[in-house]
Amino acid sequence: MAEFMSGLKRTHYCGELRQEHVGTEVTVCGWVQRQRDLGQLIFVDLRDRTGILQLAFDQNTQREIFEKAAGVRAEYVLAVRGLVRERSAKNSDLPTGDIEIEVKELRVLAKAETPPFEITEDSKVKEELRLKYRYLDLRRPDMQDKIIQRHKIVKIARDYFDNNGFLEIETPVLIKSTPEGARDYLVPSRVFPGQFFALPQSPQQYKQLLMLSGFDRYMQVARCFRDEDLRADRQPEFTQIDLEMSFVDPDDVMSIGEGFIRDVYQKLQGIDVPVPFPRMSWKEAMERFGSDKPDLRFGLELVNLSEVLKDTQFRVFAGALAAGGAVRGINLKGKADELSRKEIDKLTESLKAYGAQGLAWTRLTSAAESSSYEKFLTEQEASAVRSALGAETGDVLLLVASEKPSVVFAALGALRCELAKRFDLIDRSKPSLLWVTEFPLFEYDEEENRYMAMHHPFTAPQEEDLDKLSTDPGSVRAKAYDMVLNGNEVGGGSIRINTPELQRKMFEALGFTPEQAQERFGFLIDAFRFGAPPHGGMAFGLDRLVMLMLDCESIRDVIAFPKVANSSELMSNAPSFVDEKQLTELGLSISTQPAKN
Ligand code: AMO
Repeated sequence: MAEFMSGLKRTHYCGELRQEHVGTEVTVCGWVQRQRDLGQLIFVDLRDRTGILQLAFDQNTQREIFEKAAGVRAEYVLAVRGLVRERSAKNSDLPTGDIEIEVKELRVLAKAETPPFEITEDSKVKEELRLKYRYLDLRRPDMQDKIIQRHKIVKIARDYFDNNGFLEIETPVLIKSTPEGARDYLVPSRVFPGQFFALPQSPQQYKQLLMLSGFDRYMQVARCFRDEDLRADRQPEFTQIDLEMSFVDPDDVMSIGEGFIRDVYQKLQGIDVPVPFPRMSWKEAMERFGSDKPDLRFGLELVNLSEVLKDTQFRVFAGALAAGGAVRGINLKGKADELSRKEIDKLTESLKAYGAQGLAWTRLTSAAESSSYEKFLTEQEASAVRSALGAETGDVLLLVASEKPSVVFAALGALRCELAKRFDLIDRSKPSLLWVTEFPLFEYDEEENRYMAMHHPFTAPQEEDLDKLSTDPGSVRAKAYDMVLNGNEVGGGSIRINTPELQRKMFEALGFTPEQAQERFGFLIDAFRFGAPPHGGMAFGLDRLVMLMLDCESIRDVIAFPKVANSSELMSNAPSFVDEKQLTELGLSISTQPAKN
């Protein structure tokens, strides 16, 4: 039978006891990390969220207590009263390693079955099993630390924004579906059969309305939901540190945003990140790094070879250039001996995911030179490519050509990161932060055959591009900015449109009729008729920020109960089928053959 706590009150956490407590009577509670029975002597390591403490049972321990200790197993929950004493054999690996507890009273508050994996920092366990028993996984000190660090970051955020005059205001979680952006999660309404709420992809429209209401500076630690394909840095349900400000320009928002990051690094890790962060236009980021979230911790910059190859007869390059595309390359310096033909073939295969048809290469090993394309070029062209890339013996030149410049950027951008990882070229000594600015306002969606808002339809265009809204939408730049941390988009935002006239123009450019615009965004359009201040803001991806600051591989490591790649939750088995009765109440019936869970 398990025992009760009554009469015992915890006086200390396990991890806080030190030499200075010797002689003090304490009561501690926690889980058994391990029990060592040496016959005349039993040691139990007791763990709570602050650390591990040794309990000692010996000849002087009351018989009954000693026997109880003999029956204690890993993960049992104990309450212990005893005297802190100096250890005879000290353990310098443990902060509490100078002392132990001479146990006077022991209560087994709960027994535990043998857990499916050992609760230690380094136990090598498949993630699936960890997630199925997440509550046990979260007992591991490294996981506890991540969740605690996350809490601290949120606390720093709340304090920082409060100190800067922001009010935290909650916005609804059941909202109207606005199918622009990612796919919505829908919630059926019982009261209005056949009608649905959506879960917010972000508080975007509500925070804009709060500016209209005059709150001036808003922030929220906000839950967001997006039904999109997951990657290592995405979750269907994630948290933003969301903010919005009135009467501001991009510099004001960026300055508040970088001030926050500076504060977090300072307070959490004692790292001084210089502000202002460097800025780079979207165009420059794409051209130099093939990415709108460039990782500046290593070189491997893209070089535009379109000019030196403009007259080439080589079909692959000439075809791409003739169709308005590009040829670009990177130089992997000094690695020719380490990157084999076979590995280049593998890289080529992986670039197909980005639409690249191939990867042209030259290997300049000290023993021999070989190339997949130089034989098709004139000597001048081949040497012009080499010199544009600064080629020397030992280098590998890697080129991508495509009719679509976006394919060249995406493929080389990804290749650059892959090579940097593989050859350990990344300078991890300090965080690399920058702003990417002047994003295009629109991107062309080939499936939908129309321009779509690159961020969202309320993003303001740059003033000098306003007259191109109807004539050349593709070249209009937005007053938008993304913050990039170590090659990841950690936050982003924009200045918003605040007048009905400009909003109308924007909807026209997006191909919405006034009726469609009204139907989708009616309340916001109506609101703008009543005096909206100029405003703008941004949102940080909290999970991503924590993941990057703590140097985790996966976003799942910094979320207490995350979802896996197919958006399910392995512990509770959500999503799940529901009762026929629940469906009937909602006026729903399932028409498709249910997939087996
Ligand atoms: P955006 O869509 O860029 O902007 O999102 C802001 C930040 O949120 C993080 N993020 C995600 N994190 C985890 N999983 C996801 N699925 C996910 N999607 C986005 C990223 C991103 O930078 N309303 C605008 C902000 C604004 O304009 O003020 C917005 O949501 O780190």
